[in-house]
Amino acid sequence: MAGKVCLVTGASAGIGLATALELLRAGHTVYGLARRVEQMAAIESAGGHAIGTDVSDEAELERAVHSVLAKEHRIDVLVNNAGTAVHGSVEEVPVAEARRVFEVNLFGLARLTQLVLPHMREQGQGTIVNVSSIGGEIALPLGAWYYASKHALEAFSDTLRQEVTPFGVRVVVVQPGIIKTGFEDDTPRQLREYSGGGPYAKVAEWMARRAEQAFQRDRTGSDPVVVARAVREIVTAPDPRPRYAVGQYAKLLLRLNRILPDRLFDKMVTRQR
Ligand SMILES: NC(=O)c1ccc[n+]([C@@H]2O[C@H](COP(=O)([O-])OP(=O)(O)OC[C@H]3O[C@@H](n4cnc5c(N)ncnc54)[C@H](OP(=O)(O)O)[C@@H]3O)[C@@H](O)[C@H]2O)c1
Repeated sequence: MAGKVCLVTGASAGIGLATALELLRAGHTVYGLARRVEQMAAIESAGGHAIGTDVSDEAELERAVHSVLAKEHRIDVLVNNAGTAVHGSVEEVPVAEARRVFEVNLFGLARLTQLVLPHMREQGQGTIVNVSSIGGEIALPLGAWYYASKHALEAFSDTLRQEVTPFGVRVVVVQPGIIKTGFEDDTPRQLREYSGGGPYAKVAEWMARRAEQAFQRDRTGSDPVVVARAVREIVTAPDPRPRYAVGQYAKLLLRLNRILPDRLFDKMVTRQR
């Protein structure tokens, strides 16, 4: 079958939007899911579909999957890309904020996977692409909940792959490096709100300034299209790898993390203090 029916979450911006457009260009049928439907107009203009969905809302996920199945009678590809973060020290970030991150990055993704899997199993084929991060293997100061959610996603994906491979369903983790999107736009504000006035203020301010410089002024990083192209390749690859590290610094940082002893890695990422 040439054109596959694809669901892409977080399709209103950044990596998800680029992925939805890339899959459309490749001739697939694409449904973008995100809360800001108006930000998915480019997907509709390119022949795709947009469904307003909060991935942390189970009823909305059920409605979205139901409406795709009612029209297409199949789902071949699920790209779990929607993501969020919170920045601040472990001591100061409210646990409610941590829960919000996990609701989107892990539980929402898991529920959508549960809804789609029975259909992929019945079809005897399907591809689930989970967008993790280099933060799925690496952890940095003042980002514990984001890194914890992505580490959890990595383990979840490994188990899922082991369980569903016998049914013909492929599970692939994508680990982007630094990608030029609006993902970090709120980071400086969060760092200052949660950790700007207490014992972690010095490192929080240093990181807030660095985030402003990296993500707002210079916009360092790879274009989201590099991740989109990787997903396009994965979707049609006869035998995709379990993991793809893509974009600026991804392979380098993952390799460093794997070879350096923990204390040396800690020194490297905290040396500004
Ligand atoms: N940018 C990077 O450097 C980088 C690096 C590694 C990994 N990643 C991962 O890549 C993924 C995409 O991030 P991005 O960089 O493209 O960021 P982005 O431009 O901020 O896009 C985030 C997307 O997630 C969606 N989203 C957030 N909360 C949602 C919710 N509750 N329900 C539905 N959709 C939700 C947003 O849509 P709405 O707000 O419209 O709902 C938006 O479309 C994330 O999982 C992130 O962790 C990014």
